[in-house]
Amino acid sequence: MEIVRWFSFICVVIATFVLLDLSNNVDGRAHFHKKKTDHTHTKKGSPVSPSPPEYLSPAAPTIPSDPYNNPNPDPCVFDVTSYGAVGDGSSDDTEAFTSAWKEACAVESAILLAPADYQFTITSTIFSGPCKPGLVFQLDGVLMPPNGPDCWPEGDSKKQWLIFYRVDNMTLTGSGTIEGNGEQWWELPCKPHRGPNGMTLPGPCDSPALIRFFISSNVEVTGLRIQNSPQFHMKFDGCTGVLIQDISIDSPALSPNTDGIHIQDTKGVGIYNSMITNGDDCVSIGPGCSEVAIENITCQHGHGISIGSLGVHHSQACVSNIYVNNVFIKNSDNGVRIKTWQGGMGSVAGIRFENVEMDNVKNCIIIDQYYCFTKGCQNETSAVYITDVSYKNIKGTYDVQTPPIHFACSDSVACTNITLSEVELLPKEGVLVDDPFCWNAYGILETITIPPISCLQDGEPVTLSESVNYDC
Ligand SMILES: *[C@@H]1O[C@H](CO)[C@@H](O)[C@H](O)[C@H]1NC(C)=O
Ligand SMILES: *[C@@H]1O[C@H](CO)[C@@H](O)[C@H](O)[C@H]1NC(C)=O
Ligand SMILES: *[C@@H]1O[C@H](CO)[C@@H](O)[C@H](O)[C@H]1NC(C)=O
Ligand SMILES: *[C@@H]1O[C@H](CO)[C@@H](O)[C@H](O)[C@H]1NC(C)=O
Repeated sequence: MEIVRWFSFICVVIATFVLLDLSNNVDGRAHFHKKKTDHTHTKKGSPVSPSPPEYLSPAAPTIPSDPYNNPNPDPCVFDVTSYGAVGDGSSDDTEAFTSAWKEACAVESAILLAPADYQFTITSTIFSGPCKPGLVFQLDGVLMPPNGPDCWPEGDSKKQWLIFYRVDNMTLTGSGTIEGNGEQWWELPCKPHRGPNGMTLPGPCDSPALIRFFISSNVEVTGLRIQNSPQFHMKFDGCTGVLIQDISIDSPALSPNTDGIHIQDTKGVGIYNSMITNGDDCVSIGPGCSEVAIENITCQHGHGISIGSLGVHHSQACVSNIYVNNVFIKNSDNGVRIKTWQGGMGSVAGIRFENVEMDNVKNCIIIDQYYCFTKGCQNETSAVYITDVSYKNIKGTYDVQTPPIHFACSDSVACTNITLSEVELLPKEGVLVDDPFCWNAYGILETITIPPISCLQDGEPVTLSESVNYDC
């Protein structure tokens, strides 16, 4: 019953895309019949040269009518259907994608094109570089992994699906959809409360992250719709220079571990103008991140914007210069959160949350230095040091099940220099009994807050514990 409904949902989604993309594709075909004459690198099929999509180069010159007079040849297009991709929703198109990638990778400013009106299926694949600069992976159709764990090839990684590795100056874009086919992964009995009688069965519970950029630089992800991931939708790990804009991420509220965008060991990140609806963190920022801007984002359901969790297993975590601005968070379990485990090292410093609107959010503003998901985590003498955190113009409504403001800092290491101004949070409905909570938290209120906070301590703690290493 569930599955039948799921399939019909997918069909509706796909049909919608097929319909929406028809006009696009007519334009596309009109351009794509023109063959380039000077290709020496083609094996299967022939790449063709359309005009570049407008959004790739808004200032691009118009295409001259005489190709032989063209001083700046159009970028080469490597259409996966010319490499044998079928795109019927069930054939395995992996080889076509890897062949097209191999050839596109070798050409400057190439476009790997997965055209509209097709539903491509590929198995877990690493698209590796280094490639010539300016490579564009353009998805206008639907791209999806095999449907659920039973269809996952034995030898394939169950931790990741679409992987970009060692790429520099590359763009992933298009008007298409990356459909994660995640439902059967969410229902595995090892997922929280999905076992018999609402239990959570033990055992390895790997589920693939949908898109992963690993050890890459200057990458852009724009335009796409990314949905129903088995696990994280997008993960950036060991990257420098990441721009994500105008995307939408969409999964059900009850899909476990489906973080929208997760970054770790990644520096120089902009996440702009996007919509994220999912079942876990909207954006999560792990250890080793700095210079991150998140602006004009809507987060729905899920667990809000999260720095952490940090310092697990006594590890060192360093996070600095995070700027969150103009964000709307709706019906979420958290708003803006910093979470660390007991026993870590390092610091979280220079965090600004500004112009955040909340609608029916639990834990709107929260620092939790006692993060733990097993029972019986011990309090430790070391902790990740949290300092220079400001909250400015944070307004809206909270769900009265939890206090809207909660600063639980470590016993051994206080949080310092927390600043609040223009914080006004009202109950969505009903009356809250608990006041804002602070533990070992130092900082100032620049304006009166709603609800009023009296628990933040003035000045600096007498000593910061000397046994703690918060160098970064
Ligand atoms: C790639 O490099 C070119 C030239 O420096 C630059 O204009 C473009 O924005 C870069 N693209 C990405 C995705 O970094
Ligand atoms: C955010 O949205 C505003 C209003 O639409 C726009 O002016 C601004 O450029 C956007 N910011 C970014 C970083 O795109
Ligand atoms: C850890 O410390 C906090 C704050 O002092 C306290 O509330 C909590 O009970 C302690 N937990 C354990 C397991 O000792
Ligand atoms: C407190 O933090 C703010 C940023 O939130 C920073 O600008 C300021 O310099 C810090 N103050 C001190 C005394 O470190």
